[in-house]
Amino acid sequence: MTFKTLDDADLKGQRALVRVDINVPMADGQVTDDTRLAAAKPTVDKLRAAGARVILLAHFDRPKGKRVPEMSLAQVVEPLSQVLGVKVAFAQDCVGEAADKAVAALGDGEVLLLENVRFHPGEEKNDIDFAKALAANGDLYVNDAFSVAHRAHASTEALARLLPAYAGEQMRLELQALDAALGSPKRPVLGIVGGAKVSTKLDLLNNLVGKLDALAIGGGMANTFLAAQGIDVGGSLCEHDLGEEARQIIAAAEKAGCQLLLPIDVVTAVEVAPGVASRVQGLDSLGPDDKILDAGPETLARLIATMDAASTLIWNGPLGVFEVPPFDKATVSAAKRAAERAKSGQLVAVAGGGDTVAALNAVGCADDFTFVSTAGGAFLEWMEGKTLPGVAALSQ
Ligand code: 3PG
Repeated sequence: MTFKTLDDADLKGQRALVRVDINVPMADGQVTDDTRLAAAKPTVDKLRAAGARVILLAHFDRPKGKRVPEMSLAQVVEPLSQVLGVKVAFAQDCVGEAADKAVAALGDGEVLLLENVRFHPGEEKNDIDFAKALAANGDLYVNDAFSVAHRAHASTEALARLLPAYAGEQMRLELQALDAALGSPKRPVLGIVGGAKVSTKLDLLNNLVGKLDALAIGGGMANTFLAAQGIDVGGSLCEHDLGEEARQIIAAAEKAGCQLLLPIDVVTAVEVAPGVASRVQGLDSLGPDDKILDAGPETLARLIATMDAASTLIWNGPLGVFEVPPFDKATVSAAKRAAERAKSGQLVAVAGGGDTVAALNAVGCADDFTFVSTAGGAFLEWMEGKTLPGVAALSQ
């Protein structure tokens, strides 16, 4: 896919409508992770340096087409301003008089944030009239929100068809990294997919087995695969009704020549609690109360060996219950090894998806990965091989 980037644009004095994703986690009025705010900075800097007037469009949470005061973007203005290092003006609405006035008052190089686009029902309906109302305040459109690109909404899709449209810096980085990991990767490519449930990742697994050289499955979802092969997983989390789907994925992997790495040993406990007594078990000895909570040392050693032989790694989802030590061990060890190899240039390591990023941040090794996506749902849909409407609209 080809896109116009900001390098292709004449920006001086132009009103740039920039779709960003600043849907950040907050607690007690404070932003608890400002990664997405920081991700917006390169594009904003570039536009300001070129003398554009920067008008930020964004959503916050899911107000479902109504004005919900708790979901106002007003609460993000100050933290955003701090991260961007520039005063950010705010308009109480993203269309109409409030927006028009604030945009008219904006000088070259200044930054304005418009209120939550999802306060209007037209946003999620991808309504062309709502998109036209947004477009009225811009000369050009920049989409820098890869993490919302799986939504065909007015500010991510329709708007791109109404104004000259460009990919922002974060969007460009995300697309480049994803291409390096799955589009045209250096082989061999290893995937790690973890998380609780197979049901949420069926499309993803089916797509990946056709593209990867090896795929390690971890977390609760691995139990479903073990059970599907007749292994007694005791009291572990398991979707027993998905046995047939799991067997089909195993068969598809075999056919495609993708080596499937399922656990060969596991760490169990009778309950999930910090510091609870745990033990390493083979797959033939689980009792009815044993819960599989992490990959065992042999499984981990085999994964590390496969990683050491790989040139590319794509990772989504933890290998165990990483939030509760000691069940974080496999995730932490594998993440550290990937980070080490990426740092020394031996591995292209790309990770994404909510839990994965939280795990890498907890381990403190996200910075050493080649790329960590800011996206949750969009990263998954992209791994499923789906066309993301926000990306497709940009490439037209
Ligand atoms: C996200 O947090 O993944 C994006 O901001 C998209 O939000 P949504 O799932 O509410 O569309």
